[in-house]
Amino acid sequence: MKISVIGCGYLGAVHAACMAELGHDVIGVDVDQEKVDLLSAGRAPFHEPDFEDLLERGVSSGRLSFTTDFAQVADCRVHFIGVGTPQKADAHGADMRYVESAVQSLLPHLADRAVVVGKSTVPVGTADSLEPSVTEAGGVLVWNPEFLRESFAVKDTLQPDRLVYGLSKNPESAEYGLAMVDEVYADIIAAGTPRLLMDFPTAELVKVSANSFLAMKISFINAMAEICDATGADVTKLAEAIGLDDRIGRKFLRAGIGFGGGCLPKDTLAFQARTEELGLESLNFLTDVNAINERRRQRVVDLVVAELGEDLTGMRIAVLGAAFKPNTDDTRESPALDIAERLDRLGADIIITDPAAGPVIAARDPEAPIAADAHEAIEGANITLLLTEWDEFKSLDPTTLAPARKIIIDGRNAIDSTVWKNAGWTYYGMGRS
Ligand code: UDX
Repeated sequence: MKISVIGCGYLGAVHAACMAELGHDVIGVDVDQEKVDLLSAGRAPFHEPDFEDLLERGVSSGRLSFTTDFAQVADCRVHFIGVGTPQKADAHGADMRYVESAVQSLLPHLADRAVVVGKSTVPVGTADSLEPSVTEAGGVLVWNPEFLRESFAVKDTLQPDRLVYGLSKNPESAEYGLAMVDEVYADIIAAGTPRLLMDFPTAELVKVSANSFLAMKISFINAMAEICDATGADVTKLAEAIGLDDRIGRKFLRAGIGFGGGCLPKDTLAFQARTEELGLESLNFLTDVNAINERRRQRVVDLVVAELGEDLTGMRIAVLGAAFKPNTDDTRESPALDIAERLDRLGADIIITDPAAGPVIAARDPEAPIAADAHEAIEGANITLLLTEWDEFKSLDPTTLAPARKIIIDGRNAIDSTVWKNAGWTYYGMGRS
């Protein structure tokens, strides 16, 4: 089938390449000419395992192309909207201008009975408000939220846990939209992926509530880490023990410096803002989730100050990790960079290393204090912070490092404290000692 994907950021570009892999003819549309040129050459604008292979394969087979021109998608039967919904500059709610402009740019080119499929994460109520203009342009709207995780984006798109379709209240539109989206995902459905049908607001809420639940799980275990720090208990043992109850589950119970990235922070804030707009101010549990998350970052700063004093002038601090999690170069809302900035404001001499995000930061700003690897960053450091749990940091041999002082703060509870203590290091974990 001939389909388009509007918006070629993380979500859209991966979705486009995966749809081409499923055998569809795909056109990706983006307003950024530089990004379109890069993608057209089969080159990934970001670090994502397996993505570039798919991209190259799609482009060289002729099934995948990219453009800035909406007129090129006029003969597509299905259009996915995968543009970003960042946080508003002056408020917690989602900035909907990219969704609105994508839809407005698309509608004049919509073929009769083409299906517009929303994938962006949006405030509940968005699809209901967009549907009349899509219908008036002769199209049908479906809401199909995306659950992909960065660094597993290809796998999560081609082998998702579930497919969620939000369908129109109009039975004829719902039936037609369902059939068309089923045709796009035929191989994924044939592989046995559960497919859940619901109305627009429920589909929109599935996405934001899933992200809020994940954020809540992380903040819950981080709250336990605070209690463990106060009592001398060990949060990693606690997480293992409660996680074996399969009603709780072991995943997303890694205590540390908290969540970051392009989704969880903004989606929890936007969800909170939306519940307030709906007059549900008393539902404020997400405020606590975010407050706990924020405190984790300050905890690392407080530990550094407790060791080195409040004036960090001239203190070299090695920061291992800049990405918001390992196996990505994405630094959006990165807890690691936020902590580095807080310490920089206290006068510290920060030196950062990250295998994927490091070169990106250095290319953007040649003056940025980026070291080639952990050995170089740690050399002469007064304190070392492990803030993104890349394998190469987890496997460091502490006896081969040459810091000025052997102090490590393990912001991700990622290393074996006994090994480091035996090598003469002072070790601080998050909710464990
Ligand atoms: C998330 C959701 O997982 C995904 O379903 C949604 O579509 C987009 O948002 P992503 O942003 O790629 O995906 O990151 P994720 O793997 O969820 O991690 C988010 C943050 O939480 C990272 O900063 C990670 O380090 C942190 N985290 C995760 C923890 O601190 N502890 C954990 O136990 C798990």
